[in-house]
Amino acid sequence: MIISRGEGVRVWDDNGRDYIESVAGLWCASLGFSNERLAKAAYTQMQKLPFYHSFTAKSHEPLIDLSEMLIARAPVPMSKVFFANSGSEANDSAVKMIWYFNNAIGRPLKKKIIGRIKGYHGVTIASASLTGLPNNHRSFDLPLPGFIHTMTPHYYHGAEPGESEEAFATRCAQVLDDLIIAEGPDTVAAMFAEPAMGAGGVILPPRTYFEKIQAVLQKHDVLLVADEVICGFGRTGNYWGSQTFGVQPDILVCAKALSSAYLPISAVMVNDRVFEGLANESHEIGTFGHGYTYSGHPVPAAVAIETLKIYDEIGLVDHVRTVGPFLQSELRRRFEGHELVGEVRGIGMIAAVELVADKAARRNFDPKQKIVARLVKLCEKHGVIARGLPNDSLAFSPPLIMTAAEVTEMLDRVGTALDELTVQLRREHLAVVA
Ligand SMILES: Cc1ncc(COP(=O)(O)O)c(C=O)c1O
Repeated sequence: MIISRGEGVRVWDDNGRDYIESVAGLWCASLGFSNERLAKAAYTQMQKLPFYHSFTAKSHEPLIDLSEMLIARAPVPMSKVFFANSGSEANDSAVKMIWYFNNAIGRPLKKKIIGRIKGYHGVTIASASLTGLPNNHRSFDLPLPGFIHTMTPHYYHGAEPGESEEAFATRCAQVLDDLIIAEGPDTVAAMFAEPAMGAGGVILPPRTYFEKIQAVLQKHDVLLVADEVICGFGRTGNYWGSQTFGVQPDILVCAKALSSAYLPISAVMVNDRVFEGLANESHEIGTFGHGYTYSGHPVPAAVAIETLKIYDEIGLVDHVRTVGPFLQSELRRRFEGHELVGEVRGIGMIAAVELVADKAARRNFDPKQKIVARLVKLCEKHGVIARGLPNDSLAFSPPLIMTAAEVTEMLDRVGTALDELTVQLRREHLAVVA
């Protein structure tokens, strides 16, 4: 499929067919596909200062202004911002900072990093090691040693019969505690977590999860990194997913909607304690030997500044608080009772509809049957670009500017695709005839 142009929440292929983008590209084009102000911000910055770097004690206004805007908007007090070009690079940078920090404060053995099974943090070597999805490891000789994974907090699949959400969260925290103790608390440096897991299946933390996880991390003096690459900038109905789920990170990573994805840029925010460690070690060594040619590149930075201004001006978070509940309730009203649907989950403007072979047993189809890939194809046939996730889950993460009328149109089209899939599966005797 060749995508040739975009406008609002839609894109057009090279044959002139339009599609509603139900995942904002890759969970990122928050302001849709035709924002003039962002295009102008890039052009204006290119004319004024098309490139400058931030090495050797240099800086420039877009980098400084954007840093200040991010610090002012952070969910918890943050001290400094480091810029990179992608979520993966930002997470790799955070891992390196954590190692550097622990060396700085005299804990050279405290280096292991915890991710979660089904967590997604990117594909560079450290971020892919953090990621907990088999396809990002298999045949790549990953994860690297020193990267370990704890359980997925997915209540629907993970809970024991009769276990409450709170009890399940307690068990998740116990599993984490056991893991840290088994590895040796003096060897575990940090845990990375998406407030709501995205690419692993849109998995929301069970009630009280982060409160309990953070108590374990604090007990063992393990840093918490919030990977806000998807959740940041309004997606879950608050400015940050950390606010929605009660996360108080030491380090926060963001990207994607930081520039509405119009140009590549990502950021790592660190709190005072982490910054002090980094600064002291850098003074000792003489330099902080990490940074990219394009760290804080003025053009993406200018676009990001304009993006954050637009978010404030149009009240984007309030918009998500209005349209998000409509999206969530419509998804449940339309699909929860469907014979193929096991779970509808989500918050704000992120959601997933999971298809199952057996609703009572919560059993998925055999992955070889590629059920969600078939649904994605049918969605395309009916005018929606959709995204399949593990466990035959269909993702929803539309541009945040999507209106209620556009939600209705999108779900009408997805519903038609799902009905067509159901007919096909019945014919193939894969679905139970209702
Ligand atoms: C939560 C999260 N972290 C990190 C990344 C990696 O970002 P990038 O693809 O920009 O490297 C992604 C990408 O989808 C993501 O969803």
